[in-house]
Amino acid sequence: MKQREKIIPLATGNVLEIGVGSGLNLPYYTKNIEKLTAIDPSKELWDRGVVNTNTLPFDFEFLIAEAENIPAKNQSFDTIVITYTLCTIPNLKKAFSEIKRILKPNGKLLFCEHGKAPDNFVQKYQNIINPVWKKIGGGCNLNRNIPAIIEENGFTISKLETMYLPGWKPASFNYWGIAEMK
Ligand SMILES: C[S@@+](CC[C@H](N)C(=O)[O-])C[C@H]1O[C@@H](n2cnc3c(N)ncnc32)[C@H](O)[C@@H]1O
Repeated sequence: MKQREKIIPLATGNVLEIGVGSGLNLPYYTKNIEKLTAIDPSKELWDRGVVNTNTLPFDFEFLIAEAENIPAKNQSFDTIVITYTLCTIPNLKKAFSEIKRILKPNGKLLFCEHGKAPDNFVQKYQNIINPVWKKIGGGCNLNRNIPAIIEENGFTISKLETMYLPGWKPASFNYWGIAEMK
């Protein structure tokens, strides 16, 4: 099962996806959602268009925007989805302040990210190569502690799973799960 398949079908109601990229998650949303609003600062990535959005079984809107400044009303989303994007967002504090502003009080944050590995030797490697990786990888960080970031920014993680995906260990340790506002 693909990582995306483990998390995206859990989205319900009015949904916001942050950092949609070229839309790789779109095929995994179900009819349990009413509307999907997808944001990304890169129009260039979105224009690669992996999915024909006219065929989606729910309302869909794409907006050019950053997580740090989301063009949405307070408490407007039931689910916020973020995949492989917390590694890149420059101002996480501001992004989470926006996420908390626009999420309904009983809403959920679904996440699937790569980040800090549990093994010391992999962590050391991640820390050494991170500055170069970040430069060549569009701002992507290898060594962010994803659960700590989520918890430190006002969320409680109710479900968390982790594993190394097959491949290069410094970039393959995955965290995925569900979080609710504290
Ligand atoms: C590795 S891609 C992941 C794309 C997609 N979420 C996926 O899972 O395939 C990282 C994405 O984060 C977006 N991004 C970078 N900075 C961002 C920010 N400040 N706010 C929201 N998205 C951002 C990039 O444009 C890019 O689409």
